[in-house]
Amino acid sequence: MSLFDGISCGMIALERLGVPINRYVAYEIDEYAIKVSQTNYPQIEQCGDVFKADFKQYNGFDLLIGGSPCVHWSLARGSNGRETTANGLGWDLFSQYVRALNEAKPRFFLYENNVSMSDEIKECISHELNCEPIEIDSADFSAQKRRRYYWTNIPVAEWQPKNILFSDIMDSEYTNSRSIAKYKNTYKWSKDGMCLSWDTSGKGYYSQASRARKVNQKWNTVCANRAESKGNVWLGNDMIRLVTMSELEKLQTLPVGYTACLKSKERRGRAIGNGWTVEVIKHLLSYMKEIQE
Ligand SMILES: C[S@@+](CC[C@H](N)C(=O)[O-])C[C@H]1O[C@@H](n2cnc3c(N)ncnc32)[C@H](O)[C@@H]1O
Repeated sequence: MSLFDGISCGMIALERLGVPINRYVAYEIDEYAIKVSQTNYPQIEQCGDVFKADFKQYNGFDLLIGGSPCVHWSLARGSNGRETTANGLGWDLFSQYVRALNEAKPRFFLYENNVSMSDEIKECISHELNCEPIEIDSADFSAQKRRRYYWTNIPVAEWQPKNILFSDIMDSEYTNSRSIAKYKNTYKWSKDGMCLSWDTSGKGYYSQASRARKVNQKWNTVCANRAESKGNVWLGNDMIRLVTMSELEKLQTLPVGYTACLKSKERRGRAIGNGWTVEVIKHLLSYMKEIQE
């Protein structure tokens, strides 16, 4: 059973592990995420809103997975209504996960969320799930930095970080490169020399969109917001290009083209940014006892 299933990254992980799946029940309300899931896995049972679910019917299921929306708790929200205590919509959504756990009583569970939640919420989640989270940076499994907490009763072992860089996953063919030579006199390199900013306003304003990163490094977190400007790639000689959709998929270790059924880049970027890094989930689920055996 997968709550807040998004684009069903849990299914991809289970499939990569070769786990035979009798039923995969998904709770998700976003029509575009559901479209991606249904295009790739028509056998997934889409059941809609978690608040309306009767989880008792899933008694006997082996595994419950899910990461409730982090937008209510995340630092990215700033002071604009960020929830820092076990109250509000963020907590109500998480509480549906706890309800599923109590009603369906699965053998294994995995719950994920963003590390930028308040300490109080983190402690309350640990109390509810009766375990401490494991912090994993997706950078250990992919070319992307993405720090997340994972609460689970699966006895997960240590892992060897993989040294995968953006240059290892970047597309070899692209058409969207452009020159920024006319802004050369405004160039500012970051201290580590890996990120270039330039000023298109002529007023000393360096916007987020006017940045490009060298390819021989771990890439920034693929976010659900700012879908239009997921970052520029520095190609050298004053040339840059936007990160492509297939690169975003590879940063999340998704199959290339997995989200291609969405024609809007904005929607596609959001679906990818909301998802999980599949290889992290695969690592965690690989320690379910039967798989080990
Ligand atoms: C952080 S995303 C999880 C993405 C997912 N782990 C994946 O692999 O793609 C949270 C998801 O919760 C969904 N969601 C929000 N409210 C919901 C509700 N009431 N019932 C079911 N899903 C909901 C959102 O649409 C969003 O896709």
